[in-house]
This record gives sequence, structure tokens and C-alpha cells, in this order.
Amino acid sequence: MDKLLIQGGNRLNGDITISGAKNAALPILCAGLLTSSDVELSNVPNLHDVKTILKLLGQTGLKVLQDGDKVTLNGSAIDKTEAPYELVKTMRASILVLGPLLARFGTAKVSLPGGCNIGSRPVDQHIKGLQAMGAEITIEAGYIYAKCAKLKGARIVTDMITVTGTENLLMAATLAEGETVLENAACEPEVTDLANLLVAMGAKITGIGTNRLVIQGVSELHGAKHAVISDRIEAATFLCAVAAAGGDITIRNTRTDIMDAALDKLREIGVELTIGDNWIRAQMNKRPAPVTFRTTEYPGFPTDMQAQFMAVNTIADGASRVTETIFENRFMHVQEMNRLGAQIETDGNTAFIKGVEQLVGAPVMATDLRASASLVIAGLAARGETLVDRIYHLDRGYDQMEVKLSAVGANIQRIK
Ligand code: EPU
Repeated sequence: MDKLLIQGGNRLNGDITISGAKNAALPILCAGLLTSSDVELSNVPNLHDVKTILKLLGQTGLKVLQDGDKVTLNGSAIDKTEAPYELVKTMRASILVLGPLLARFGTAKVSLPGGCNIGSRPVDQHIKGLQAMGAEITIEAGYIYAKCAKLKGARIVTDMITVTGTENLLMAATLAEGETVLENAACEPEVTDLANLLVAMGAKITGIGTNRLVIQGVSELHGAKHAVISDRIEAATFLCAVAAAGGDITIRNTRTDIMDAALDKLREIGVELTIGDNWIRAQMNKRPAPVTFRTTEYPGFPTDMQAQFMAVNTIADGASRVTETIFENRFMHVQEMNRLGAQIETDGNTAFIKGVEQLVGAPVMATDLRASASLVIAGLAARGETLVDRIYHLDRGYDQMEVKLSAVGANIQRIK
């Protein structure tokens, strides 16, 4: 199993180019199931999760042509509408094939994703929405069996805001008969990116970017070209790295208009930010100030940045409080950070952090994707050597993180 060895203490200086967004690319690749024509995508990140979804899509008979960050999909010869447990268990986002398969082929068999390290993460809202659209759904032996002659438009109010739930129902609604209204829809930029691709494929959607999506179903979708949006979480992760380690970095190929919550907190920390049209320069020359925040849906503070900002808080000049409201178990990094000398206590979904002058390197274990990134940030700021184990989590969602960090002066290497 690969590990990352970090010698902490180097300041970060230089440019980092941000890749396409994982959480936009995954639903967008699944949208290739909705048409028999070519969907030509660019800015697709090179990630383990992308490989997993392409493998799953390939098993349905969807043709996949890949050339660097470009992926062309063709769904004219799909002959299997299944997502097996072996793949779904490794990546929950596999559930995103359910809506498109059912809408286009009238049948789908998708393994129920289990719980995961950050929480139980049920998919009841995906199922409830599809049932409202007339699907017959049974759950048997760990699989969701869904069928319908033709999905019918419906008004769906999800019990909570769900990102992949919104994406699944949105894709299904594009081919349903009549009008679907998705109330309480997720407004995350990744949902918007998917909606923009669907419109380019001929879908009729209004309310894009709001929590009320209205979809007029069409009988078929056609091919389209689309560039996946830049990864706001990857971008903010590197900005947290410079907040913790100090230095002067410019991140490029980024979307500066969808990162307000993170950028506001970085300013509060004391990072000097200069914002361009698609770049952000971050300069940090002092000890971070502590920041208190609670995670919430977009445009609020993203849960996917909670662990990385907590890493910065561990060495801040003062105390802070972090409340996680989206997932019930997303504090697995706390014990690992405490192994580096951090002083964090948790009480339910709130973590209380007392900033220390200096972390000290130690072996630590990554437990999920964003927790892994937070341990890398802590390791960059720590004195001495930090060995981050189980970095397959990191490879799921960061495109060559250690290569990008080395290029700006971090002392970090992958150990096979
Ligand atoms: N929920 C339910 N029932 C449902 C769906 C969701 O109870 O049917 C609950 C979840 O358990 C959770 C909350 O609703 O407590 C929100 O979950 P959501 O469905 O929004 O999460 P997701 O769609 O499974 C996506 C991202 C996550 C990100 C969350 C929140 C993808 C592929 N994943 O997950 O990304 O944290 O939205 O923004 O888009 C990551 O990239 O590290 C990651 C975990």
C-alpha cells in the first residue's frame, strides 16, 4: 500500500494548476448513459474514482474512449443495466447510474451502497424520488431493482438536501414524460455543471443553480461537448496548505466565483488573497488566526473542506470550534491530528481546537479522502517527518497531489 513521506517545515512557493472537479465529473460521466450519441468531455481529472466509474459504465456496454483529460462516451450499444456490488462497494457515487439507466431503458439493478467511513449515507431520497416518478422499486439481497414502462414527471420534495440525490433525479427527469419539479434541490456548482451538460444534450431545465429545478421531459437527448468545471475543493485544499505551511502560491485554472465560503475563512485566517479571473494568489507570512465555522450546503461552508481547515486551526494562535452538520461521523482525522500534537476535543458533532505553536511529525493513517488531505496539510506544517498511510483514499479524489505539492517546494514523496 502506498504511503506519503513528508518532511515538514518547507514554505510553498510557485504555481499549481487545478484539475477538473471529481464530484462534477462522476455524475457527468453517468449522463453518457442517457443518449446513443457521442458525449465529448474535457478537463476530466485523472483519479481513481473516475477509473472506477468508467469501469462500471464500460460494463453496461457504454463505449469509452480516453485520451488524457478527454473522454468520449457513446451509449449506442448498452446491453446491461446493472451496477454490481463489487464496484458500488468501492465507490458510493456508483448510485448515479440508477436514474439514467431507469429513465432510458426502463430497468436497472444497482447494488445498495453500504455505509462508509464518514457516515451511514442512505439513498432513500433517490428511491423516493424515482418512485414518485412512477418507478416500481424493490430491494432484495442487497440490490435495488427498479423498473417502469416510462417515468412520469412529478413534484418531488426531498426530506433533506442531497447532492447525488438531486443529480440522479435530475438525470431521470430529463427523459420522463411531462414536468418534474425538484424542490429542496442541491445548489452545489457540481449539480449546476451537470445541468449545463444536460441542457447542451437537449434537456429542458430551468432554475439551474437554485433549489427549485423544473424539468420538461424530452423523448431523447443528443450528444454534446462539455468541459468539466475546475475542482473548488482541490483548489481550497492547496490554499489551506499555504495557510498552514506559509509561502506564496498561485492556483490556476480555478473558478473563483464558487469558493466564497472558503475564501472568506482564508482571509479570516490571515492569508492575503489576490483574485484574478481564473487564478488566485495566496500569500501567508504569519501564524494563522483561528476560524470557527459550521459546515452546510452550498453556498455555505463545504463539509468537504472541514478537515483541511481544521488542520490549519490546529496551529492557529487561539481556540476555534468546528461543527459538522452534513455527515455524522466526519471527525476521523481528529485522533490522527492529535497524534501530531494537536489539541482537539470533540463533543458530538462539534470539535474544539486549541491551537498549538507547532505540530510534531509522526506516522498517521488516512481514513477517508478529505481526512487524508488534512493530514498532508498537517504534515507540511509539522516539525520533522510525517508518514501518511493508506493514501489510496487520497488517490480517489486528488490528481497527483504530491507531484503538485513537490513542484511548489514541499518535501513530500510517495513510498511504494
Ligand atoms: N442523505 C440521506 N438520504 C439520501 C441521501 C442523502 O439521508 O437519500 C443524507 C446523507 O446521509 C448526508 C446528507 O443527506 O447526511 C447529505 O448527503 P448527500 O446526498 O448530499 O451526499 P452525497 O451526494 O452522497 C456528495 C459528494 C460528497 C460531499 C456531499 C456533501 C459526490 C460524489 N459526493 O455526496 O463528496 O461530501 O455531497 O456535499 O458528489 C468527497 O468528495 O469527499 C465527498 C464525500
